[in-house]
Amino acid sequence: MRIAEVGDLAMLQLPNNKQTIFKLEADREYQTHKGSIFHNDLIGSPWGRDVETHLGTSYVFLPPTLHDLVRNTRRISQIIFPKDIGYILLRLSIGPGTRVLEAGTGSGALTTAFAWMVGEHGKVYSYDRREDMQDLSKQNLERVGLMDRVEFTLQDIADGIAEKDVDAVFLDLPRPELYLSQIHEVLANGGVLGTILPTTNQVSAFLRKIEEEHFDSADVAEILLRFYKPVAERLRPTDRMIAHTGYLVFARRMHTK
Ligand SMILES: C[S@@+](CC[C@H](N)C(=O)[O-])C[C@H]1O[C@@H](n2cnc3c(N)ncnc32)[C@H](O)[C@@H]1O
Repeated sequence: MRIAEVGDLAMLQLPNNKQTIFKLEADREYQTHKGSIFHNDLIGSPWGRDVETHLGTSYVFLPPTLHDLVRNTRRISQIIFPKDIGYILLRLSIGPGTRVLEAGTGSGALTTAFAWMVGEHGKVYSYDRREDMQDLSKQNLERVGLMDRVEFTLQDIADGIAEKDVDAVFLDLPRPELYLSQIHEVLANGGVLGTILPTTNQVSAFLRKIEEEHFDSADVAEILLRFYKPVAERLRPTDRMIAHTGYLVFARRMHTK
């Protein structure tokens, strides 16, 4: 049986799917706007049970998944959505031990997923030129206990990138085509570069540049995800969906002499 322990991340979920995530610490009290819960009543108890606040509101007590952590990223920028992050992780082949570089950090949603996936022996190098963004993403990474897997650099990537031979690069910033020569210096031969762009004309501008900067095998995709109302007797799609987030573009770094 899986039991919640001191130091674990815990999540309380309401029936409307509202979630709240926090770290379990002895003798602490967690305040929700629907009443408080003592951590000591959760520590040592099984995951996946109902718990009640002192005001009688019932929550489901769960260990957060990576999807929950990304969804609950505190944000002051647009973040990359979980549906896109899942595919990015596969295309960039992010796993234990990977060294991945990203710019910009933004609120750190993608950083969180990278940090989770690279494990204890991998590293995420994250650049942003805005201090407020990096401060928030540091808080977000600290909150989920993944801070030691990330090296943050407060710098415009136009002013250089210190790392060499990284396994993969992801750019989530306007006009990524401006930085292709820097990325070529940083990415290992054959490594994958990915980017996300909100409009097709930005994708065209990127595609026009990649070959002359020695990247190859480009492809462009968008991910459409449709949720269903989970009612067995009347199973049908939900009324609304997120129709557009961004276009994903991937390319491989070619060797040059
Ligand atoms: C949309 S946000 C990134 C969101 C992030 N991927 C996430 O999932 O939370 C774009 C970020 O790129 C940063 N940025 C834009 N141009 C940059 C540059 N040339 N060098 C470094 N950071 C840059 C901005 O400051 C901003 O924080």
